[in-house]
Amino acid sequence: MCGIVGYVGKKQAAPILLDGLAKLEYRGYDSAGISVRDGDKDAVIVKAKGRLSKLADKTDQGRAVPGTCGIGHTRWATHGEPSELNAHPHCSDDMNVIGVHNGIIENFQELRQKLIRHDYQFYSETDTEVAIKLIDYYYKKYAGTPVDAINHALVRIRGSYALAVMFKEYPGEIYVARKDNPMILGLNEDGAFLGSDVPAILKYTRKVYYIGNMELGRLSADGVTFYNLDGDEIQKEITEIEWDAESAEKGGFEHFMMKEIHEQPKAIADTLGMYISNGKIDLSSLAKNGAVDENDKASDPEAILKEIGRVYIVACGSAYHAGMIGKSVIEKLAGIPVEVSLASEFRYCDPKLDKNSVVIVISQSGETADSLAALRLSKERGIPVIAIVNVFGSTIAREADYVMYTAAGPEIAVATTKAYSAQLITLYILAMKTALLKGILDEERAKGLMDELAAIPAGISKILEDKERIQWFAAKYANAKDVFFIGRGIDYAIGLEGSLKMKEISYIHSEAYAAGELKHGTISLIEKGTLVIGIMTQNDLYEKTRSNMVEVKARGAYLFGLTSYGNYNVEDTVDFAVYVPKTDENFVASLAIVPLQLLGYYMAVTKGLDVDKPRNLAKSVTVE
Ligand code: G6P
Repeated sequence: MCGIVGYVGKKQAAPILLDGLAKLEYRGYDSAGISVRDGDKDAVIVKAKGRLSKLADKTDQGRAVPGTCGIGHTRWATHGEPSELNAHPHCSDDMNVIGVHNGIIENFQELRQKLIRHDYQFYSETDTEVAIKLIDYYYKKYAGTPVDAINHALVRIRGSYALAVMFKEYPGEIYVARKDNPMILGLNEDGAFLGSDVPAILKYTRKVYYIGNMELGRLSADGVTFYNLDGDEIQKEITEIEWDAESAEKGGFEHFMMKEIHEQPKAIADTLGMYISNGKIDLSSLAKNGAVDENDKASDPEAILKEIGRVYIVACGSAYHAGMIGKSVIEKLAGIPVEVSLASEFRYCDPKLDKNSVVIVISQSGETADSLAALRLSKERGIPVIAIVNVFGSTIAREADYVMYTAAGPEIAVATTKAYSAQLITLYILAMKTALLKGILDEERAKGLMDELAAIPAGISKILEDKERIQWFAAKYANAKDVFFIGRGIDYAIGLEGSLKMKEISYIHSEAYAAGELKHGTISLIEKGTLVIGIMTQNDLYEKTRSNMVEVKARGAYLFGLTSYGNYNVEDTVDFAVYVPKTDENFVASLAIVPLQLLGYYMAVTKGLDVDKPRNLAKSVTVE
């Protein structure tokens, strides 16, 4: 996601800030900004949309903004388009409080309204401007210290954040706070540094403090002081970073793919936070594009969902696999038929689209050529399009009637993991909202489902705790020539994604089959030792797929069985069993995919392959 840096000390701040931001470029961004204070003078804020080099040019490589205390930010848009106005730092009108922020503030609309009632004005569409003005409000209301003001604000803010803030009346000081977003503070003889990630400050110091959740810090040229939410000072140990610069970029993981696999709990929690608040699904943040005519049928997403009789999902690659899960969940929960198409097929098959329908285009990048063409075709035919997109302001996001953003943050590994997981979450939410609007789902069951969704991040963390078991298995089977994934219904769709992960990064031939189709051909490929992965997470299909596993075992296959805790009799059939935590069957793909991502990953690592950049593949396919 976004990047934060800060410095206060004996040196000029701006060049250090620009250098730190450059080290965070790999995380992806669309605009950047810095704020520097020169002694007691007013701070200066400079921002630029686009590349960091633009900000460097605008500030004459930092020389045009003198001062020894400052903060900086690279922004990956989540609330509001990429623009100079939305770029950070943000400030109160009198420049009393200036700050930068990473994360998502879930209740920012509510806080914005509160501040408007207290005569605050807003210029950007960001949640960050709300946070900064809220701190300013409490600073003035209680006339206390910066720590008091930030604490008051934090009590009101729901969501995740890493904040770095400067106060006019405290020149030479930077205040920081965090919850569920990374931030480290570092020290050397020249001053104190802060960064949202290790690479930002690694050039200057390896001596760092890790600030805990809901803790605050105060940086000055003399060092760093920490506080708890009560404003009491707390002590922290300094730690020495041993990573080299490259592993620092990967947060200590060997590859971006593994880092992103571990970021899935957060990607899911953040995506849930965007659409569920106070136990209600709120699609008001569904960005409505200017192209939508207010009098048109496509003017109210909820009205559309309430009335629709059919859904078409169109996507490519893993996004298509997410769509297959979405089909199952929408059909089961909302009771309407869903057709899922590969975008590259959809656009050429002269699709017959029902009038009373909606097209959902799913795309991480928002730039995939075939998905974009499918979107344009659907619009030409007068069908409203909802895009599920990860990259803010991308072409698909701009051209769709409505956009449901996933909050996965920038994904760097070619093989998608966290974006796919976030796509699943948006599809579950759409399915539930449609079912609620149609009166098929009652509030009580919806609440139960929301509780299950809220538990998914912890479920994934639990699976990741046991990843060494998968690593061991992968090392044993990395020489496999062919691997087959079998399952029925949602389990088949999970198999398709598991198989894609395996083949694209480990170059092992793998195929996913609907378990019932095995007997119609594929079973002839089973030989002694062929690895077959059976996915059995659905109660009513469990025994059916298990008996298909028995059939391939009789022909010599080696069986990997993936199911939920409780189904322990799977061990009577399979050679290697993997369990995922129990959840509602509609949502189980979000858990079951994780061991399969790990399996593909570890197979590729065992074979010494370039996991993050597999041969012949591109992250974003902008050609047909
Ligand atoms: C490429 C990527 C896949 C992705 C697919 C669709 O093949 O390697 O990870 O699923 O494109 O991309 P999109 O950006 O539209 O989701």
